[in-house]
Amino acid sequence: MRRAALGLAAWPARRSAAIARVSRCNSYANRVIGRRCISHHTNQSIAQLLQWKPAEKADDVVVNGYVRSVRSMKAHRFVSLGDGSSLAPLQALVHTDQAQGLAVGAAVRLTGSWVASPGNSQSHELHASKVEVLGPSDPKTFPIQKKYQTPEYLRTMPHLRPRTPLQGLLLRLRSDAIATLTHFFASQRFTQTHPPIITSSDCEGAGEVFTLAPATKPDRSGSKSVPEDSFFRSKKYLTVSTQLHLEALAQAVGNVWTLSPVFRAEQSDTSRHLSEFYMLEAEMSFVDNLETVMDLTENMLRSLSTSLFATTTIQELFSRSAQIGSGLAPADEVKRRWEGLMQPSWPRITYTEAIRLLQQKAELFTLKPTWGAGLQSEHEKFLAEHVGGGKPVFVTNYPRDIKAFYMLEAQSDPQSPGATVECFDLLVPELCEIAGGSMREHRLPHLLDAMRRHGVVTPASQMAGEIIAGQDSHDSGSNLGWYVDLRRWGCPPHGGFGLGFDRLLSYMAGVQTVRDIVAFPRWYGRCDC
Ligand code: 4AD
Ligand code: MG
Repeated sequence: MRRAALGLAAWPARRSAAIARVSRCNSYANRVIGRRCISHHTNQSIAQLLQWKPAEKADDVVVNGYVRSVRSMKAHRFVSLGDGSSLAPLQALVHTDQAQGLAVGAAVRLTGSWVASPGNSQSHELHASKVEVLGPSDPKTFPIQKKYQTPEYLRTMPHLRPRTPLQGLLLRLRSDAIATLTHFFASQRFTQTHPPIITSSDCEGAGEVFTLAPATKPDRSGSKSVPEDSFFRSKKYLTVSTQLHLEALAQAVGNVWTLSPVFRAEQSDTSRHLSEFYMLEAEMSFVDNLETVMDLTENMLRSLSTSLFATTTIQELFSRSAQIGSGLAPADEVKRRWEGLMQPSWPRITYTEAIRLLQQKAELFTLKPTWGAGLQSEHEKFLAEHVGGGKPVFVTNYPRDIKAFYMLEAQSDPQSPGATVECFDLLVPELCEIAGGSMREHRLPHLLDAMRRHGVVTPASQMAGEIIAGQDSHDSGSNLGWYVDLRRWGCPPHGGFGLGFDRLLSYMAGVQTVRDIVAFPRWYGRCDC
């Protein structure tokens, strides 16, 4: 790479400016996400070039990108280039004689001078002296256009949609968030782990598992049927949550976390549900109260939002043009969400208190709030908006019978009309539940009781009174002997949470449906490519 192309031509003179740039890049989020900080040893992205505003013309600058639009003038074409690194395009001025093949969608490499622009829309532009069309495109058939295209239409071509500027931003947001979270957990001395995707049990017991089976090929007799339990000798599923395996790992190395794909066969056609999504889960051992688990959840989300807030990706999100933002919540609303996430001391109320609050406003709801029933999304919305005041809200201690079997029973509460468990749901305005967590039942007899109560074990196992690993039923996701085993030998009090990572990102970005925060979304009835 030529020195000028890397911004090195006048290196000694520019040293202090470069140092200033580097220190601007020194916040953790920007350092980890260093590809967007100026590096003089790699090819510059368009985002980096747009930050570079030399007073004098710089020659031999090379830029790679995709043509977003072409505007024809008499002797020149104004070419708008993007490469996914910024919402703003780079403007290049190309002589008409060299413009052949510069069509919307084409992958190109332009070489030229980086000069101050007379236009108002950009500070600098590229005056191209060399044009290389590396990947041609037929603009008549290329489906992505500069003009507004609805989210529904773009969703019909998930293989091309990532090339739109907004999807580029969302991919960068996801990547930045993962880098920041990885740093957060490392700083808290959590071990990152890889629990399995194929499991023998339905962790949540809600029967929303996908069953796994090898593809059928005709055997010698011509029969195509392969029983679901033929490969692993018993039925297996795609995981709905890695929690149970994380509990096993937490007993080995202490606090653990993972960001894993999980799968749910819910037939929910809503803006909050996907069939495949990423869940961030953490499990803490030797922890004896739910407050500690909520503190971790709250600190993690505050640290994440505070670190990301200053990044160029987020600043672009707030200052996007009306056209790019038309599928998003308004920028001031999104900013309010971030401010809420960055504030300290999020409210924590019990389910029993929540029901009391809701009952005082019963006329507002279609479904009457009743102790013992789950909170409907209209109830959660009300709580998130009225209790949180912009901050996320923890609702704790739900009735035992509407929560999963593994949750620790709470000390009896005179205010509560029935038994509750030590758990929480974390609610945010608009979107409602983004995370759920609990203390886990670590005592063997109590866990067995809870499993029986929830109907998690089969009648045969109930008669035996205990479940021994490998000997309980392989039916209906109740193969949990190994999970019970964890309670037999050295099981300290422990707890953890699971955060819907795609829901969180859609909340932070202001994307109206989780289907648009995931590059290749899968939901009931749809799995396009
Ligand atoms: O509340 P859930 O079901 O909790 C669990 O699975 C626990 N085992 C987690 C744990 O304690 N380790 O799921 C956790 C979060 C929800 O709060 C929600 O944000 C998200 O996962 N979620 C979904 N996100 C997108 N599409 C779906 N179908 C989702 N179902 C749950
Ligand atoms: Mg939940």
